[in-house]
Amino acid sequence: MDASLFPYAADWLNLLLRWLHLITGIAWIGASFYFVWLDNSIRPPKPGSELAKKGVSGELWAVHGGGFYNPQKYLVAPPELPPELHWFKWEAYTTWLSGFALLLVVYYLNPQAMMIDRAVADLAGWQAIGIGILSLVVGWTVYDLLCRSPLGERDLLFGVVVFLFIVAVAFVLSRLLSGRAAYLHVGAMIGTIMVANVLMVIIPGQRKMVTAMRAGQPPDPVHGKRGKQRSVHNNYFTLPVLFIMISNHYAMTYNHAYNWLVLAAVMAAGVLIRHFFNLKHKGRIAWGYPAAGVALILATAMAIAPRPVAAPTAQGSAPGFEKVQAIIGQRCVSCHAQQPTQPGFAAAPAGIALDSPELIRRHGEKIYQQAVQLRAMPIGNMTGMTEEERGMIGEWFRAGGK
Ligand code: HEC
Repeated sequence: MDASLFPYAADWLNLLLRWLHLITGIAWIGASFYFVWLDNSIRPPKPGSELAKKGVSGELWAVHGGGFYNPQKYLVAPPELPPELHWFKWEAYTTWLSGFALLLVVYYLNPQAMMIDRAVADLAGWQAIGIGILSLVVGWTVYDLLCRSPLGERDLLFGVVVFLFIVAVAFVLSRLLSGRAAYLHVGAMIGTIMVANVLMVIIPGQRKMVTAMRAGQPPDPVHGKRGKQRSVHNNYFTLPVLFIMISNHYAMTYNHAYNWLVLAAVMAAGVLIRHFFNLKHKGRIAWGYPAAGVALILATAMAIAPRPVAAPTAQGSAPGFEKVQAIIGQRCVSCHAQQPTQPGFAAAPAGIALDSPELIRRHGEKIYQQAVQLRAMPIGNMTGMTEEERGMIGEWFRAGGK
């Protein structure tokens, strides 16, 4: 293959992996939401009933897709194992595998553009990648140790400590990587913890229980208890992770000077909202939680709103269009052209080409937003745009962007 087609092929790989990641993620989180709902919604059978005698600890009736379903939960295990048992694990594993492959294609193959921001830290590509991978390993190690410590028994305190640990990681990463890569790695770290919970704790525990039962021994309930603990943690991780996975579209969050605090606030809101649903399934409505979550998001949105800038004082003080076009030609067009010259880019990113006066005028508002208000562009400030240049683009746009 012609080497110049590599970035194009990488775009396709990116697309297919992202698609797969989304599909497997939906299958995993969907199944996980369903089982949490099920667990919270089942009610114990009448004492002395047929079901209670069978060892059923809870059941419910549901209607879906034209059929009636009657799931029943056995607290430890049924007296006798059925020949066929469905396991839920590949949804989680394939989500991690496709996610890691995507991390590789989007970030690790192009660390200069996607991970490094020289205004944050002047790292080499391998250093940025090393920090990224290290964050995944450290995240799981610390979390797993905390779970096994006495703290693991105290749900609320444990939750607070794990939350503070994740915020601390977000803070450290925000001082080392570009905001976008810092966010994504916090998400990848939480996602890795969630999948490792399935791979290292939940599934091995279930396997031990099944093996014991097949050998005619009573299963050890401790495995059920441990699995449940991890499963509850995963449940509270879901909304924060899903936010982070879409955050790369929202430079106003990851590019803010206090991006790690913004992340903490949105994650906390996600946990509060998730908690509301968990209580609701159990029949308790507590509006205080989602209200606090929404208030947190609103407060964050207001706190990070771009400051309004005074209109230029004297008419005609704004730079002429030629000046603006020269800046954009120097700082943006290596990527934002029909045929980018920047290595690693196959087509104009986000479909935005800026290589003609007409295109610059058409995208004036977006240019202003990304390069002046949010400072998200040039990505990682790879082309070394100066403050003065941002100021000039700002004045040009505020004077009408003509
Ligand atoms: C090194 C390559 C590179 C340079 C240089 C660069 N950009 Fe970008 N730009 C990107 C990438 C990559 C994206 C897509 C980001 C994403 O995936 O969300 C992007 C996206 C954008 C978007 C769309 C954002 C959105 O979410 O709608 C705008 C607008 C933009 N850039 C403007 C600029 C401006 C203005 C400059 C120059 C000041 C610039 N870019 C310089 C790589 C670059």
